[in-house]
Amino acid sequence: MAKEKTSYSCTECGGTSPRWLGRCPQCESWNTLIETVVEAAAPAKNRFASLAKTSAVAVLADIEASEVDRTPTGIGELDRVLGGGIVEGGVVLIGGDPGIGKSTLLLQALDGLQRAGVPTLYVTGEESGAQVALRSRRLGLERSQVQVLAEIQLEKILATLATNQPSVAVIDSIQTMYSEQLTSAPGSVAQVRECAAHLTRAAKAGGTCIVLVGHVTKEGALAGPRVLEHMVDTVLYFEGDTHSSFRLVRAIKNRFGAVNEIGVFAMTEKGLKGVANPSAIFLSQHSEPVPGSCVLVTLEGTRPMLVEIQALVDSGGPSPRRLSVGLDRDRLAMLLAVLHRHAGVDCLDQDVFVNAVGGVRISEPAADLAVMLAITSSLRGRPLPRGFIAFGEVGLAGEVRPAPRGQERLREAAKLGFSVAVVPKANAPKKGSRDIEGLTIHAVDRVEEAMEIVRGLA
Ligand code: TYD
Ligand code: MG
Repeated sequence: MAKEKTSYSCTECGGTSPRWLGRCPQCESWNTLIETVVEAAAPAKNRFASLAKTSAVAVLADIEASEVDRTPTGIGELDRVLGGGIVEGGVVLIGGDPGIGKSTLLLQALDGLQRAGVPTLYVTGEESGAQVALRSRRLGLERSQVQVLAEIQLEKILATLATNQPSVAVIDSIQTMYSEQLTSAPGSVAQVRECAAHLTRAAKAGGTCIVLVGHVTKEGALAGPRVLEHMVDTVLYFEGDTHSSFRLVRAIKNRFGAVNEIGVFAMTEKGLKGVANPSAIFLSQHSEPVPGSCVLVTLEGTRPMLVEIQALVDSGGPSPRRLSVGLDRDRLAMLLAVLHRHAGVDCLDQDVFVNAVGGVRISEPAADLAVMLAITSSLRGRPLPRGFIAFGEVGLAGEVRPAPRGQERLREAAKLGFSVAVVPKANAPKKGSRDIEGLTIHAVDRVEEAMEIVRGLA
Protein backbone atom coordinates (compact mmCIF):
# COMPACT_ATOMS: atom_id res chain seq x y z
CA MET A 1 0.00 0.00 0.00
CA ALA A 2 1.33 3.43 -0.89
CA LYS A 3 2.23 5.43 2.13
CA GLU A 4 -0.39 8.13 2.52
CA LYS A 5 0.44 11.67 3.51
CA THR A 6 0.12 12.68 7.09
CA SER A 7 -0.44 16.05 8.64
CA TYR A 8 -0.97 17.37 12.15
CA SER A 9 -4.27 18.63 13.44
CA CYS A 10 -5.10 20.49 16.61
CA THR A 11 -7.41 18.78 19.11
CA GLU A 12 -8.57 22.19 20.35
CA CYS A 13 -9.45 24.22 17.26
CA GLY A 14 -9.12 21.67 14.46
CA GLY A 15 -6.44 23.75 12.75
CA THR A 16 -3.77 21.92 10.75
CA SER A 17 -0.09 22.14 10.21
CA PRO A 18 2.08 20.17 7.76
CA ARG A 19 4.63 19.45 10.48
CA TRP A 20 4.61 18.93 14.20
CA LEU A 21 4.79 22.04 16.33
CA GLY A 22 4.67 22.42 20.08
CA ARG A 23 2.11 25.16 19.76
CA CYS A 24 -0.89 25.28 17.46
CA PRO A 25 -0.32 28.08 14.91
CA GLN A 26 -4.05 28.88 14.85
CA CYS A 27 -5.31 28.86 18.44
CA GLU A 28 -1.89 28.96 20.11
CA SER A 29 -2.63 26.17 22.60
CA TRP A 30 0.31 24.01 23.59
CA ASN A 31 0.75 20.29 22.86
CA THR A 32 -2.50 19.89 21.01
CA LEU A 33 -1.23 18.84 17.57
CA ILE A 34 -1.62 15.16 16.78
CA GLU A 35 -0.73 13.25 13.66
CA THR A 36 -3.55 12.37 11.26
CA VAL A 37 -3.74 10.67 7.88
CA VAL A 38 -4.76 12.92 5.04
CA GLU A 39 -7.29 11.01 2.97
CA ALA A 40 -6.48 11.48 -0.68
CA ALA A 41 -9.83 12.86 -1.77
CA ALA A 42 -10.75 12.67 -5.42
CA PRO A 43 -11.29 16.14 -6.83
CA ALA A 44 -14.99 16.81 -6.48
CA LYS A 45 -16.91 17.77 -9.60
CA ASN A 46 -18.96 20.20 -7.60
CA ARG A 47 -19.06 20.91 -3.94
CA PHE A 48 -22.46 19.24 -3.43
CA ALA A 49 -21.34 15.97 -4.98
CA SER A 50 -20.96 14.20 -1.68
CA LEU A 51 -24.49 15.16 -0.64
CA ALA A 52 -25.96 13.47 -3.69
CA LYS A 53 -25.03 10.10 -2.22
CA THR A 54 -27.03 10.44 1.00
CA SER A 55 -29.81 7.92 1.55
CA ALA A 56 -33.44 8.80 1.07
CA VAL A 57 -35.48 10.50 3.78
CA ALA A 58 -37.97 8.13 5.39
CA VAL A 59 -40.86 8.61 7.78
CA LEU A 60 -39.83 7.36 11.19
CA ALA A 61 -42.97 5.26 11.60
CA ASP A 62 -42.24 3.47 8.32
CA ILE A 63 -38.73 2.43 9.26
CA GLU A 64 -38.73 -1.13 10.44
CA ALA A 65 -37.56 -1.34 14.03
CA SER A 66 -35.50 -4.47 14.40
CA GLU A 67 -34.33 -5.70 17.76
CA VAL A 68 -30.62 -6.42 17.77
CA ASP A 69 -29.60 -10.04 18.13
CA ARG A 70 -27.40 -10.72 21.11
CA THR A 71 -25.17 -13.67 21.66
CA PRO A 72 -24.63 -14.38 25.35
CA THR A 73 -21.01 -14.88 26.33
CA GLY A 74 -22.03 -17.42 28.94
CA ILE A 75 -20.55 -15.27 31.71
CA GLY A 76 -23.71 -13.99 33.38
CA GLU A 77 -22.24 -10.90 35.00
CA LEU A 78 -20.58 -9.83 31.75
CA ASP A 79 -23.78 -10.35 29.77
CA ARG A 80 -25.57 -8.21 32.31
CA VAL A 81 -23.34 -5.19 31.63
CA LEU A 82 -23.33 -5.80 27.89
CA GLY A 83 -27.13 -5.72 27.89
CA GLY A 84 -27.59 -9.42 27.17
CA GLY A 85 -24.54 -10.37 25.15
CA ILE A 86 -22.42 -9.34 22.21
CA VAL A 87 -23.99 -7.73 19.18
CA GLU A 88 -23.07 -8.30 15.54
CA GLY A 89 -20.88 -5.44 14.34
CA GLY A 90 -20.82 -3.89 17.80
CA VAL A 91 -17.65 -2.34 19.16
CA VAL A 92 -16.98 -2.67 22.88
CA LEU A 93 -14.25 -0.84 24.76
CA ILE A 94 -13.08 -2.35 28.04
CA GLY A 95 -10.90 -0.06 30.13
CA GLY A 96 -9.18 -0.52 33.45
CA ASP A 97 -5.93 -0.38 35.34
CA PRO A 98 -3.17 -2.76 34.27
CA GLY A 99 -3.43 -6.10 36.06
CA ILE A 100 -7.08 -5.75 37.02
CA GLY A 101 -8.26 -8.71 34.95
CA LYS A 102 -9.22 -7.48 31.47
CA SER A 103 -7.29 -10.16 29.58
CA THR A 104 -8.44 -12.85 31.98
CA LEU A 105 -12.12 -12.01 31.61
CA LEU A 106 -11.97 -11.71 27.84
CA LEU A 107 -10.11 -14.98 27.38
CA GLN A 108 -12.74 -16.70 29.52
CA ALA A 109 -15.51 -15.06 27.49
CA LEU A 110 -13.93 -16.00 24.14
CA ASP A 111 -13.48 -19.58 25.24
CA GLY A 112 -17.13 -19.75 26.28
CA LEU A 113 -18.24 -18.35 22.94
CA GLN A 114 -15.96 -20.64 20.97
CA ARG A 115 -17.31 -23.65 22.84
CA ALA A 116 -20.81 -22.49 21.93
CA GLY A 117 -19.77 -22.60 18.28
CA VAL A 118 -19.10 -18.88 17.76
CA PRO A 119 -15.87 -18.29 15.78
CA THR A 120 -13.48 -16.12 17.81
CA LEU A 121 -10.12 -14.39 17.44
CA TYR A 122 -7.88 -13.16 20.22
CA VAL A 123 -5.29 -10.65 19.03
CA THR A 124 -2.59 -10.18 21.60
CA GLY A 125 -0.11 -7.35 21.36
CA GLU A 126 1.15 -7.53 24.92
CA GLU A 127 1.82 -11.19 25.47
CA SER A 128 3.19 -13.93 23.26
CA GLY A 129 1.04 -16.86 22.20
CA ALA A 130 2.86 -18.99 24.78
CA GLN A 131 1.93 -16.61 27.57
CA VAL A 132 -1.69 -16.63 26.51
CA ALA A 133 -1.57 -20.42 26.42
CA LEU A 134 -0.12 -20.50 29.91
CA ARG A 135 -2.92 -18.28 31.16
CA SER A 136 -5.57 -20.43 29.48
CA ARG A 137 -4.14 -23.56 31.19
CA ARG A 138 -4.23 -21.72 34.49
CA LEU A 139 -7.83 -20.82 33.86
CA GLY A 140 -8.61 -24.47 33.26
CA LEU A 141 -9.57 -23.86 29.64
CA GLU A 142 -8.19 -27.16 28.38
CA ARG A 143 -8.24 -27.81 24.64
CA SER A 144 -9.50 -24.31 23.97
CA GLN A 145 -10.23 -23.72 20.27
CA VAL A 146 -9.90 -19.92 20.49
CA GLN A 147 -7.83 -18.59 17.55
CA VAL A 148 -4.85 -16.58 18.76
CA LEU A 149 -2.89 -14.02 16.76
CA ALA A 150 0.15 -12.33 18.29
CA GLU A 151 0.38 -9.18 16.19
CA ILE A 152 0.59 -5.44 16.66
CA GLN A 153 0.38 -4.12 13.15
CA LEU A 154 -3.08 -2.88 12.28
CA GLU A 155 -2.95 -3.69 8.56
CA LYS A 156 -2.10 -7.34 9.24
CA ILE A 157 -4.86 -7.60 11.82
CA LEU A 158 -7.38 -6.12 9.39
CA ALA A 159 -6.29 -8.64 6.77
CA THR A 160 -6.75 -11.52 9.24
CA LEU A 161 -10.19 -10.21 10.20
CA ALA A 162 -11.15 -10.09 6.54
CA THR A 163 -9.99 -13.62 5.78
CA ASN A 164 -10.96 -15.43 9.02
CA GLN A 165 -14.22 -13.52 9.55
CA PRO A 166 -14.57 -14.30 13.23
CA SER A 167 -17.84 -13.35 14.94
CA VAL A 168 -15.96 -11.90 17.89
CA ALA A 169 -12.45 -10.48 18.00
CA VAL A 170 -10.61 -9.13 21.02
CA ILE A 171 -7.82 -6.60 20.49
CA ASP A 172 -5.61 -6.74 23.58
CA SER A 173 -4.68 -3.93 23.85
CA ILE A 174 -5.44 -1.03 21.52
CA GLN A 175 -2.43 0.84 22.92
CA THR A 176 0.02 -1.71 21.55
CA MET A 177 -1.33 -1.53 18.00
CA TYR A 178 0.13 0.67 15.31
CA SER A 179 -0.71 1.59 11.78
CA GLU A 180 2.12 1.93 9.29
CA GLN A 181 0.33 4.97 7.89
CA LEU A 182 1.47 7.02 10.85
CA THR A 183 4.93 7.67 12.13
CA SER A 184 3.97 8.26 15.74
CA ALA A 185 4.70 5.58 18.32
CA PRO A 186 2.17 2.92 19.34
CA GLY A 187 0.12 4.17 22.27
CA SER A 188 0.09 7.78 21.12
CA VAL A 189 -3.26 9.49 20.74
CA ALA A 190 -2.86 9.49 16.96
CA GLN A 191 -2.15 5.76 16.72
CA VAL A 192 -4.81 4.76 19.21
CA ARG A 193 -7.46 6.77 17.37
CA GLU A 194 -6.40 5.68 13.92
CA CYS A 195 -6.33 1.99 14.85
CA ALA A 196 -9.65 2.16 16.66
CA ALA A 197 -11.28 3.96 13.74
CA HIS A 198 -10.12 1.31 11.25
CA LEU A 199 -11.16 -1.54 13.52
CA THR A 200 -14.57 0.06 14.08
CA ARG A 201 -15.03 0.32 10.35
CA ALA A 202 -14.01 -3.31 9.93
CA ALA A 203 -16.50 -4.35 12.63
CA LYS A 204 -19.38 -2.58 10.92
CA ALA A 205 -18.40 -3.81 7.47
CA GLY A 206 -17.78 -7.45 8.38
CA GLY A 207 -20.35 -7.88 11.15
CA THR A 208 -17.66 -8.87 13.61
CA CYS A 209 -18.09 -7.81 17.22
CA ILE A 210 -14.80 -6.18 18.19
CA VAL A 211 -13.73 -5.78 21.78
CA LEU A 212 -10.97 -3.23 22.33
CA VAL A 213 -8.98 -3.47 25.52
CA GLY A 214 -7.62 -0.14 26.77
CA HIS A 215 -5.35 0.52 29.69
CA VAL A 216 -6.12 3.50 31.78
CA THR A 217 -2.85 5.39 31.63
CA LYS A 218 -1.21 7.07 34.58
CA GLU A 219 -1.70 10.45 32.95
CA GLY A 220 -5.43 9.82 32.94
CA ALA A 221 -7.28 10.78 29.81
CA LEU A 222 -4.44 11.18 27.33
CA ALA A 223 -4.09 8.23 24.93
CA GLY A 224 -6.16 6.15 27.32
CA PRO A 225 -9.55 4.64 26.60
CA ARG A 226 -11.18 8.03 27.10
CA VAL A 227 -10.20 9.24 23.63
CA LEU A 228 -12.13 6.32 22.12
CA GLU A 229 -15.36 6.52 24.08
CA HIS A 230 -17.24 8.46 21.42
CA MET A 231 -16.32 6.02 18.63
CA VAL A 232 -17.55 2.80 20.16
CA ASP A 233 -21.00 1.39 20.97
CA THR A 234 -20.33 0.18 24.48
CA VAL A 235 -17.85 1.35 27.09
CA LEU A 236 -17.11 -0.83 30.10
CA TYR A 237 -14.73 0.03 32.90
CA PHE A 238 -13.19 -2.24 35.46
CA GLU A 239 -13.20 -0.90 39.00
CA GLY A 240 -11.92 -2.31 42.22
CA ASP A 241 -8.93 -2.50 44.36
CA THR A 242 -6.24 -4.79 42.93
CA HIS A 243 -5.47 -5.77 46.53
CA SER A 244 -8.94 -7.13 47.15
CA SER A 245 -10.37 -9.95 45.11
CA PHE A 246 -13.54 -8.18 44.00
CA ARG A 247 -13.85 -6.46 40.67
CA LEU A 248 -16.70 -4.41 39.29
CA VAL A 249 -17.33 -3.99 35.59
CA ARG A 250 -19.47 -0.96 34.92
CA ALA A 251 -21.18 0.03 31.68
CA ILE A 252 -20.81 3.77 31.28
CA LYS A 253 -22.13 3.89 27.72
CA ASN A 254 -24.21 1.32 25.93
CA ARG A 255 -26.06 1.73 22.67
CA PHE A 256 -27.53 -1.74 23.18
CA GLY A 257 -28.45 -1.76 26.85
CA ALA A 258 -28.71 0.09 30.11
CA VAL A 259 -25.87 2.23 31.39
CA ASN A 260 -24.52 2.13 34.88
CA GLU A 261 -25.34 -1.53 35.07
CA ILE A 262 -22.61 -3.39 36.91
CA GLY A 263 -21.21 -6.87 36.91
CA VAL A 264 -19.49 -8.14 40.02
CA PHE A 265 -16.64 -10.63 39.91
CA ALA A 266 -14.22 -12.23 42.30
CA MET A 267 -10.67 -12.97 41.12
CA THR A 268 -9.95 -16.57 42.02
CA GLU A 269 -7.23 -19.11 41.31
CA LYS A 270 -9.17 -20.02 38.19
CA GLY A 271 -9.87 -16.56 36.87
CA LEU A 272 -12.85 -14.28 37.35
CA LYS A 273 -16.03 -15.77 38.76
CA GLY A 274 -19.34 -13.92 38.85
CA VAL A 275 -20.64 -13.02 42.30
CA ALA A 276 -24.33 -13.78 42.29
CA ASN A 277 -25.31 -11.93 45.44
CA PRO A 278 -22.94 -9.01 45.74
CA SER A 279 -24.80 -6.53 47.90
CA ALA A 280 -22.70 -7.08 51.02
CA ILE A 281 -19.17 -7.41 49.60
CA PHE A 282 -18.14 -3.81 50.20
CA LEU A 283 -18.69 -3.86 53.93
CA SER A 284 -15.69 -4.27 56.17
CA GLN A 285 -16.11 -6.52 59.12
CA HIS A 286 -15.99 -4.62 62.38
CA SER A 287 -16.81 -6.65 65.46
CA GLU A 288 -17.84 -3.44 67.24
CA PRO A 289 -19.09 -0.21 65.60
CA VAL A 290 -16.18 2.23 65.08
CA PRO A 291 -16.22 6.02 64.78
CA GLY A 292 -16.04 7.40 61.24
CA SER A 293 -17.85 4.58 59.51
CA CYS A 294 -21.31 4.75 57.96
CA VAL A 295 -22.93 2.21 55.68
CA LEU A 296 -24.49 3.62 52.52
CA VAL A 297 -27.07 1.85 50.40
CA THR A 298 -26.19 2.78 46.85
CA LEU A 299 -27.99 1.74 43.72
CA GLU A 300 -25.67 0.42 41.06
CA GLY A 301 -27.58 0.02 37.84
CA THR A 302 -30.53 -2.05 38.83
CA ARG A 303 -29.21 -3.46 42.05
CA PRO A 304 -28.80 -2.00 45.49
CA MET A 305 -25.45 -2.51 47.21
CA LEU A 306 -24.20 -1.70 50.65
CA VAL A 307 -20.92 0.16 50.77
CA GLU A 308 -19.11 1.30 53.86
CA ILE A 309 -18.07 4.95 53.79
CA GLN A 310 -15.14 5.71 56.07
CA ALA A 311 -14.07 9.13 57.21
CA LEU A 312 -11.14 10.30 59.25
CA VAL A 313 -11.11 13.81 60.62
CA ASP A 314 -7.85 14.81 62.23
CA SER A 315 -6.25 18.08 63.21
CA GLY A 316 -4.63 19.55 60.15
CA GLY A 317 -1.78 21.94 59.50
CA PRO A 318 -2.10 25.51 58.26
CA SER A 319 -3.82 24.35 55.05
CA PRO A 320 -5.96 21.33 55.95
CA ARG A 321 -6.26 18.57 53.39
CA ARG A 322 -9.43 17.14 51.87
CA LEU A 323 -8.87 13.79 50.24
CA SER A 324 -11.33 11.28 48.92
CA VAL A 325 -10.99 7.83 47.43
CA GLY A 326 -13.92 6.58 45.37
CA LEU A 327 -15.93 9.76 45.96
CA ASP A 328 -15.86 13.17 44.33
CA ARG A 329 -13.49 15.58 46.04
CA ASP A 330 -15.32 18.75 45.03
CA ARG A 331 -18.51 17.29 46.42
CA LEU A 332 -16.68 16.57 49.68
CA ALA A 333 -15.68 20.23 49.98
CA MET A 334 -19.28 21.22 49.38
CA LEU A 335 -20.61 18.79 52.00
CA LEU A 336 -18.13 20.12 54.57
CA ALA A 337 -19.41 23.65 53.95
CA VAL A 338 -23.04 22.51 54.30
CA LEU A 339 -22.16 20.66 57.52
CA HIS A 340 -20.61 23.80 58.92
CA ARG A 341 -23.31 26.21 57.89
CA HIS A 342 -26.42 24.16 58.54
CA ALA A 343 -25.52 21.61 61.18
CA GLY A 344 -22.89 23.56 63.09
CA VAL A 345 -20.29 20.81 62.55
CA ASP A 346 -16.99 22.57 62.09
CA CYS A 347 -14.08 20.73 60.43
CA LEU A 348 -12.67 23.75 58.65
CA ASP A 349 -9.25 23.53 60.34
CA GLN A 350 -9.12 19.72 60.17
CA ASP A 351 -7.75 17.25 57.64
CA VAL A 352 -10.65 15.26 56.22
CA PHE A 353 -10.19 11.93 54.45
CA VAL A 354 -13.05 9.87 53.08
CA ASN A 355 -12.95 6.47 51.46
CA ALA A 356 -15.47 4.14 49.86
CA VAL A 357 -14.38 0.67 50.99
CA GLY A 358 -13.23 -1.92 48.43
CA GLY A 359 -12.14 0.43 45.65
CA VAL A 360 -15.68 0.99 44.42
CA ARG A 361 -16.37 4.36 42.82
CA ILE A 362 -19.53 6.13 43.92
CA SER A 363 -20.83 8.91 41.77
CA GLU A 364 -24.42 9.23 42.88
CA PRO A 365 -25.32 12.20 45.10
CA ALA A 366 -27.40 9.88 47.31
CA ALA A 367 -24.12 9.17 49.11
CA ASP A 368 -24.09 12.67 50.65
CA LEU A 369 -25.88 11.90 53.88
CA ALA A 370 -23.73 8.86 54.65
CA VAL A 371 -20.54 10.83 53.96
CA MET A 372 -21.67 13.62 56.30
CA LEU A 373 -22.63 11.19 59.04
CA ALA A 374 -19.28 9.38 58.78
CA ILE A 375 -17.42 12.70 59.01
CA THR A 376 -19.42 13.84 62.02
CA SER A 377 -18.94 10.48 63.70
CA SER A 378 -15.17 10.66 63.22
CA LEU A 379 -14.96 14.27 64.40
CA ARG A 380 -16.88 13.47 67.59
CA GLY A 381 -15.17 10.10 68.06
CA ARG A 382 -18.55 8.45 68.48
CA PRO A 383 -19.59 5.45 66.40
CA LEU A 384 -22.96 5.26 64.69
CA PRO A 385 -25.29 2.64 66.16
CA ARG A 386 -24.91 -1.02 65.24
CA GLY A 387 -26.85 -1.98 62.11
CA PHE A 388 -27.09 1.62 60.87
CA ILE A 389 -27.53 2.70 57.24
CA ALA A 390 -28.18 6.02 55.52
CA PHE A 391 -28.67 7.49 52.08
CA GLY A 392 -29.97 10.76 50.62
CA GLU A 393 -28.73 13.70 48.60
CA VAL A 394 -27.97 16.91 50.49
CA GLY A 395 -28.46 20.29 48.88
CA LEU A 396 -26.62 23.55 49.52
CA ALA A 397 -29.51 24.83 51.62
CA GLY A 398 -29.15 21.85 53.94
CA GLU A 399 -32.22 20.07 52.60
CA VAL A 400 -32.18 16.29 52.26
CA ARG A 401 -33.49 15.19 48.87
CA PRO A 402 -34.91 11.79 48.02
CA ALA A 403 -32.82 9.15 46.28
CA PRO A 404 -34.22 7.13 43.38
CA ARG A 405 -35.84 3.81 44.31
CA GLY A 406 -35.62 4.29 48.06
CA GLN A 407 -37.89 1.37 48.95
CA GLU A 408 -35.65 -1.07 47.14
CA ARG A 409 -32.63 0.21 49.01
CA LEU A 410 -34.40 -0.12 52.33
CA ARG A 411 -35.55 -3.65 51.58
CA GLU A 412 -32.02 -4.73 50.66
CA ALA A 413 -30.66 -3.29 53.93
CA ALA A 414 -33.37 -5.05 55.93
CA LYS A 415 -32.60 -8.30 54.12
CA LEU A 416 -28.96 -8.06 55.20
CA GLY A 417 -29.95 -7.54 58.81
CA PHE A 418 -29.58 -3.77 59.18
CA SER A 419 -31.91 -2.33 61.79
CA VAL A 420 -31.75 1.49 61.81
CA ALA A 421 -32.01 3.83 58.84
CA VAL A 422 -31.89 7.58 58.37
CA VAL A 423 -33.36 8.47 54.99
CA PRO A 424 -35.04 11.35 53.16
CA LYS A 425 -38.69 11.85 54.04
CA ALA A 426 -39.92 11.00 50.55
CA ASN A 427 -38.10 7.65 50.65
CA ALA A 428 -39.63 6.47 53.93
CA PRO A 429 -42.68 4.21 53.67
CA LYS A 430 -45.90 6.21 53.85
CA LYS A 431 -47.73 6.26 57.17
CA GLY A 432 -50.22 3.43 57.30
CA SER A 433 -48.41 1.36 54.68
CA ARG A 434 -46.51 -1.64 55.96
CA ASP A 435 -43.16 -0.85 57.48
CA ILE A 436 -40.12 -2.74 56.36
CA GLU A 437 -39.66 -5.60 58.74
CA GLY A 438 -36.86 -5.31 61.24
CA LEU A 439 -35.86 -1.80 60.12
CA THR A 440 -36.58 1.31 62.17
CA ILE A 441 -36.76 4.16 59.68
CA HIS A 442 -36.14 7.79 60.61
CA ALA A 443 -37.31 10.17 57.91
CA VAL A 444 -35.56 13.54 57.69
CA ASP A 445 -36.09 16.74 55.74
CA ARG A 446 -32.92 18.55 56.72
CA VAL A 447 -29.34 17.67 57.52
CA GLU A 448 -29.50 19.12 61.05
CA GLU A 449 -32.45 16.82 61.76
CA ALA A 450 -30.35 13.83 60.70
CA MET A 451 -27.52 14.90 63.03
CA GLU A 452 -30.02 15.35 65.85
CA ILE A 453 -31.51 11.88 65.38
CA VAL A 454 -28.09 10.24 65.26
CA ARG A 455 -27.04 11.99 68.47
CA GLY A 456 -30.15 10.59 70.15
CA LEU A 457 -29.43 7.07 68.88
CA ALA A 458 -25.77 6.67 69.74
P1 TYD B 1 -4.88 -9.67 33.67
O1 TYD B 1 -6.11 -10.26 33.09
O2 TYD B 1 -3.60 -10.02 33.03
O3 TYD B 1 -4.99 -8.10 33.76
P2 TYD B 1 -5.05 -7.00 32.61
O4 TYD B 1 -5.23 -7.70 31.32
O5 TYD B 1 -6.23 -6.15 33.01
O6 TYD B 1 -3.79 -6.22 32.70
O7 TYD B 1 -4.90 -10.05 35.22
C1 TYD B 1 -3.78 -10.31 35.84
C2 TYD B 1 -3.94 -10.47 37.31
O8 TYD B 1 -4.89 -11.44 37.67
C3 TYD B 1 -2.61 -10.94 37.82
O9 TYD B 1 -2.23 -10.10 38.87
C4 TYD B 1 -2.85 -12.34 38.25
C5 TYD B 1 -4.30 -12.43 38.49
N1 TYD B 1 -4.89 -13.74 38.13
C6 TYD B 1 -5.48 -14.50 39.11
O10 TYD B 1 -5.52 -14.15 40.29
N2 TYD B 1 -6.05 -15.71 38.78
C7 TYD B 1 -6.03 -16.16 37.49
O11 TYD B 1 -6.56 -17.26 37.22
C8 TYD B 1 -5.40 -15.37 36.49
C9 TYD B 1 -5.32 -15.82 35.06
C10 TYD B 1 -4.86 -14.16 36.85
MG1 MG C 1 -3.79 -7.81 29.79
